[in-house]
Amino acid sequence: MVRNMSLSGIIFFFFLLLLSSFNRCNSQCNLTKRSDGFRGMFVFGSSVVDNGNNNNLPTLSKANYLPYGIDYPLGPTGRFSDGKNVADVLGDYLKLPPLPPALDPSTGGHRILHGVNYASAGSGILDSTGPITGVVINLNNQITKFEKVTVPELEAQLSCTRTEILPHYLFFIGAGGNDLLGYFRLNNASNNVTLDTFTTNLLAAYFHRLKRLYNIGARKFALLGIDPIGCGPAVRARTANNSCNESQNAAARLFNSRLRSMVDAFDSKLSGSQFVVVNRYNIIRDVIQNAAARGFRNVTGACCELSVNGILCKKNGSVCPDRRSYAYFDGLHGTQAVSSIIAAEAYASNNQSEVYPFNIQKLSQL
Ligand SMILES: *[C@@H]1O[C@H](CO)[C@@H](O)[C@H](O)[C@H]1NC(C)=O
Ligand SMILES: *[C@@H]1O[C@H](CO)[C@@H](O)[C@H](O)[C@H]1NC(C)=O
Ligand SMILES: *[C@@H]1O[C@H](CO)[C@@H](O)[C@H](O)[C@H]1NC(C)=O
Ligand SMILES: *[C@@H]1O[C@H](CO)[C@@H](O)[C@H](O)[C@H]1NC(C)=O
Ligand SMILES: *[C@@H]1O[C@H](CO)[C@@H](O)[C@H](O)[C@H]1NC(C)=O
Ligand SMILES: *[C@@H]1O[C@H](CO)[C@@H](O)[C@H](O)[C@H]1NC(C)=O
Ligand SMILES: *[C@@H]1O[C@H](CO)[C@@H](O)[C@H](O)[C@H]1NC(C)=O
Ligand SMILES: *[C@@H]1O[C@H](CO)[C@@H](O)[C@H](O)[C@H]1NC(C)=O
Repeated sequence: MVRNMSLSGIIFFFFLLLLSSFNRCNSQCNLTKRSDGFRGMFVFGSSVVDNGNNNNLPTLSKANYLPYGIDYPLGPTGRFSDGKNVADVLGDYLKLPPLPPALDPSTGGHRILHGVNYASAGSGILDSTGPITGVVINLNNQITKFEKVTVPELEAQLSCTRTEILPHYLFFIGAGGNDLLGYFRLNNASNNVTLDTFTTNLLAAYFHRLKRLYNIGARKFALLGIDPIGCGPAVRARTANNSCNESQNAAARLFNSRLRSMVDAFDSKLSGSQFVVVNRYNIIRDVIQNAAARGFRNVTGACCELSVNGILCKKNGSVCPDRRSYAYFDGLHGTQAVSSIIAAEAYASNNQSEVYPFNIQKLSQL
């Protein structure tokens, strides 16, 4: 082939060779571990950690209007909270700047160096969860966006390969709640898979998604378990006496305990990875049971005036003045006050019923 090249072709060929070797030694990967923890965080999942990805999607699962964001410095951003969500507060502990939402058109360039948030409210681990409220980005598609868009851009900016870069980042995932809520909504005589089978299948799907991230190069993970879904104001409103729906809570506990067992098996299945499970259920249950001691006056009702669906806040509706004393901001999502407690325990608690097998601060130092 070289024999048939013109002289200028040959010169160009050697020029390219020279250029590529020059490039290589000039751009050796030199990523040092940040002494105080992760270089950044990639966030995946549903509304518990969404920071605005649904704003421009054709879906009903949006929170980009008041009173959402009433306590957030930028006002309504699409966060399902009066202020920060769990990922935001965890980012503060990790000394990271606020992460850009993946679907924000201005996300790119240096803005992605500390991570990106892909979470989409209403989405699930299962591809089939979510479409009931319109177009949302399921976990698989969130990971695809990370892989196809963010990772190549990071490699180019840092002049390092994905396997060199990604171990320096935390992968924080809050998913599964919508899959369970979908199970309770859809399960009926014609769709009679048992909760046990459903949970087994759901965790198998979760494992598949996590393995995709692992294969791309992710090594350090923190998985946010499911909250006591039976105690949210929207569910309480449908039970007698405004009490929790304990069969839904039992489903959340089953998921969380199997998630913990699954993570125990990861050491052998995904070698070199480290997983932390944050038991959001136990933390919130503790807040509900010890409300007064923890400074909460209302752990059963929503702080905002609800829309007709009983889940989201009514647009421009009224809002409780003492938001710090409410556990729930709308019919489903916690206030910043509750998110702050979850993130604090996730980061620093040594209580294994809250964060297992160790906390995120320790994970950041490994
Ligand atoms: C790598 O980066 C650190 C600080 O960022 C610097 O001190 C060190 O000299 C660099 N090493 C090489 C081989 O470029
Ligand atoms: C039962 O679930 C299926 C979907 O699995 C749904 O199409 C059907 O309408 C449901 N039936 C009832 C009575 O809720
Ligand atoms: C579930 O559905 C299948 C097929 O429709 C039926 O054979 C089975 O008896 C059902 N099981 C229960 C517990 O209802
Ligand atoms: C709890 O939720 C399940 C599933 O949605 C429902 O079938 C049951 O009736 C609820 N229990 C109460 C006490 O509302
Ligand atoms: C709920 O109310 C019913 C009557 O409406 C009563 O029989 C039951 O004991 C109450 N349950 C609780 C937990 O208060
Ligand atoms: C551990 O955490 C759980 C859940 O928050 C709490 O109920 C329990 O009291 C804690 N145990 C200790 C020893 O602090
Ligand atoms: C909690 O807030 C809800 C909604 O604002 C309200 O209906 C309920 O009475 C409050 N409960 C307590 C104990 O203050
Ligand atoms: C809510 O209030 C804002 C600002 O006052 C206004 O622009 C908007 O039209 C209102 N939306 C609704 C649904 O009332």
